[in-house]
Amino acid sequence: MEDKKRFFITTPIYYVNDVPHIGHAYTTIAADVMARYHRMKGEDVLFSTGTDEHGQKIQRAAANKGMTPEELADKTVDNFKALWQKLNISNDDFVRTTEERHHKTVQAIFNLLKGKGDIYKGTYEGWYCVPCETYVPESQMGEGRTCPSCGRQLEMMSEESYFFRMSAYQEPLLKYYEENPDAILPESRYNEIVSFIKGGLKDQSVSRTTISWGIPVPGDEKHVVYVWFDALINYLTVCGYPDDERWRLYWPEVRHLVGKDIARFHCVIWPAMLLAAGLTPPKQVFAHGWWTVEGEKMSKSLGNVVDPFEMVDLYGVDPFRYFLLREVPFGLDGDFSELAMVSRINSDLANDLGNLLSRTLQMVIQFKGGVVPHFGEAGELERDIASMAERSFGAVDVAMRRFAYDEALKNIWAFIGRANKYIDETEPWKLGREGKGGQLDTVLFTLCESLRLISLLIAPFMPDAAERLWNQLGLPSSPQSLGYADFRWGNFPPGTAVKRGSSLFPRIDLKRWEEKKRERDLKKGRPVDPGEHEEEISIDEFKKVELRVARILSVAPVPGTDKLYKIEVDLGYEKRTIVSGIREHYPPEELAGKVIIVVCNLKPAKLRGIESKGMLLAAEGHDGGLALLTVDKDIPLGSRIH
Ligand code: MSP
Repeated sequence: MEDKKRFFITTPIYYVNDVPHIGHAYTTIAADVMARYHRMKGEDVLFSTGTDEHGQKIQRAAANKGMTPEELADKTVDNFKALWQKLNISNDDFVRTTEERHHKTVQAIFNLLKGKGDIYKGTYEGWYCVPCETYVPESQMGEGRTCPSCGRQLEMMSEESYFFRMSAYQEPLLKYYEENPDAILPESRYNEIVSFIKGGLKDQSVSRTTISWGIPVPGDEKHVVYVWFDALINYLTVCGYPDDERWRLYWPEVRHLVGKDIARFHCVIWPAMLLAAGLTPPKQVFAHGWWTVEGEKMSKSLGNVVDPFEMVDLYGVDPFRYFLLREVPFGLDGDFSELAMVSRINSDLANDLGNLLSRTLQMVIQFKGGVVPHFGEAGELERDIASMAERSFGAVDVAMRRFAYDEALKNIWAFIGRANKYIDETEPWKLGREGKGGQLDTVLFTLCESLRLISLLIAPFMPDAAERLWNQLGLPSSPQSLGYADFRWGNFPPGTAVKRGSSLFPRIDLKRWEEKKRERDLKKGRPVDPGEHEEEISIDEFKKVELRVARILSVAPVPGTDKLYKIEVDLGYEKRTIVSGIREHYPPEELAGKVIIVVCNLKPAKLRGIESKGMLLAAEGHDGGLALLTVDKDIPLGSRIH
């Protein structure tokens, strides 16, 4: 154990005021893939995630829900843990900032920095919104010094606060980044952060007296530690700092995966805190991009928040993991659409990989009674495939070192494509017929061996599918437990009996999927294309319809019917009778006096013996609801609508 390479990877710790969404799932899946990859390389991995439970945001969210912050946190933690299980996340630790071990670590760092004079007591001054209980930086103020969230006047406030002497770490930090140009990835973020630091670092307020939900400042309990100072330290908590010597194994072998919005906290405040504590800054911080959803910002108010639980139920955990990492380069923003995911499932997973396995197994069963043959003689094609397997392995490693998950997957798929092409090149079904048994054995062995290596390559990304593939090949143990030590061309044990199982990735029927998606969207009240579109018309054709404003004078049910009303309307220049089927939607008293729109030149029709002269206009919702058209201000009856 001692001489093993260490690899420590973290996700941000998530706030407990929210339900887990695709953003949380994204970082956590990326971290999981990296952790699994390094475990398969034989390294000693520590992979942590957790929850950020203190601070005003949580205190307020809990109060709004009529809960204590502890109750809200417990509930949300259960939700996050359930999601990580569902997504097959292999974290070694789950840290909560309310845990005793974390309080100890935070207080230890606070005391250490205070002892060195890097934390001092001062006065915090700023523009404060009293109802929102928050300071508003000048850059975010509304016009006339108002609060950007509630619009009310801000007040200059000052309170006692502890400060972290961050200004003293500007130069050491710049030096660290100069010497470690890959400490922040991607490169564009590195440049951004370095120029931010060059712009000057101010001391950072690290305590609050206005809230109580937090870790008490040691020795001065009317202060609680500022939530970001508290949260960042979780990364030291999980490796046991300061009491458990184990922390020295993992620090600073740490890689923080974070969203771009929280890169500054991780690349400026955090490493400055570490330098102050005499510790090395993190080896790497990778700031990934953000997902939009079908072209729009994801937000609760738009109702388009992607629920990872639902995605897994619909598409399976591995396709979801695959899609998120394959679709968009990790550092860039991307757009999530279910249609794009379905297309990838059908092309990359079902067609390319699924078919390679099913064709191969089918032939082993048909020609070899289900037993993988011995390798015959290698020709040029086999040598090409073997060398491509090695090269893919190298290319995946290069990509994974840069967190280029999409590149790693592209390389794996290039190899899958090569293996599929090999079937077309060798036409194994002919070899059997032509009595070329030796060549057939070589081809089938080569295919099985390629699939074995593919299973090892995809295992970090799609652990379940990799294992099913492995099992169907009839191989013992599992790709994860064997790891990359087993990545050697030719290791497939001949004589293995394959075990064909159910399809690795079933194809999704697009037509049926579209129908189901429409139903789901309707149920959620999301806008859907109604699909009943009419042919284009000219303005002259439209003008033929004579629409006018009218007022309803009286309403009476048509005897012997459930749906019909006899309605008298006043068009100003004349009065008319209209029979209309809106009885299920409006009681008569709601209709009398209403100003509506009437089609005046519709051919009269007789309904239940009553002549109806015209039609009133109403909008019909997808859910069958009905709303009458009206005008938005007073206008004389009989006015024409153009
Ligand atoms: N509690 C802090 C982190 C403290 S770490 C010491 C926090 N929590 S959070 O719950 O808001 O976490 C958000 C994480 O999810 C961030 O990394 C953020 O970038 C990510 N995402 C939130 N929405 C996202 C998308 N729409 N797309 C991708 N990631 C997004 O911040």
